[in-house]
Amino acid sequence: MSTKASPTEKLGKELASGIRNGDTVGLGSGSTVARLLPAMAKAMREKGVEAIWVPTSLQIQAVAQELKLRVGPLTSPDIVKVVDGADQVDSRLNLIKGGGGALLKEKVLLGSAKDSAIVADEKKFVDKLGTGDYRVPIEVSQFARETAMAMLKKRGSKDVKIRLDVRGYPAYSENGNMLFDALFAPIDDPARMEVELKSIPGVLEVGIFVIRPITVYKIRPDGAYEALKSGA
Ligand code: A5P
Repeated sequence: MSTKASPTEKLGKELASGIRNGDTVGLGSGSTVARLLPAMAKAMREKGVEAIWVPTSLQIQAVAQELKLRVGPLTSPDIVKVVDGADQVDSRLNLIKGGGGALLKEKVLLGSAKDSAIVADEKKFVDKLGTGDYRVPIEVSQFARETAMAMLKKRGSKDVKIRLDVRGYPAYSENGNMLFDALFAPIDDPARMEVELKSIPGVLEVGIFVIRPITVYKIRPDGAYEALKSGA
């Protein structure tokens, strides 16, 4: 008896296509990737393909290990594909990411991969990044806490908050650094702002992602999706 594939299974299969035995695949963090990974793993097992998955956080590493996937360190610059989620997506497919604190590793992988696939619910799509007072995650060295905060304000942030965990303690990134969440007016030129903010001493990574080429899968509430592609 054949049962119809669910939208998640269909997308998992699509995301797994093009991955060959022994390929290095980057694994972004968050609930979206965790939801899709079983479907990707299933599609690859059915084809007898085993990749080396490079996780960007302990959160997603645990999911991958649970699925008995081969998890490895980043030992090759040849990253065939990265699958990741996003917090906001603008009309040109620029992203805000870093809600889970894995932005540095995510940027390393997405900035180097041949193929970047982002999956995001349609409610995350906006005209300009920062719409709805959505804040930009910034990873900062603890030593630069005061200076970086002051400079972010000079460079246009209306408010900068130190990210706290549920008990009110500072939340740390995957790399053990502090996280700020900075409020800006909706961002007209994300590429320029990314460079400007990254030039602040002590700022280690910025949650603005301008990745080219990129495919963003926009998921509707019923699970159906559409693939949006940027130019090179
Ligand atoms: C991790 O630091 C983030 O960049 C996530 O990829 C992003 O927050 C999306 O997370 P969800 O899939 O949980 O919405």
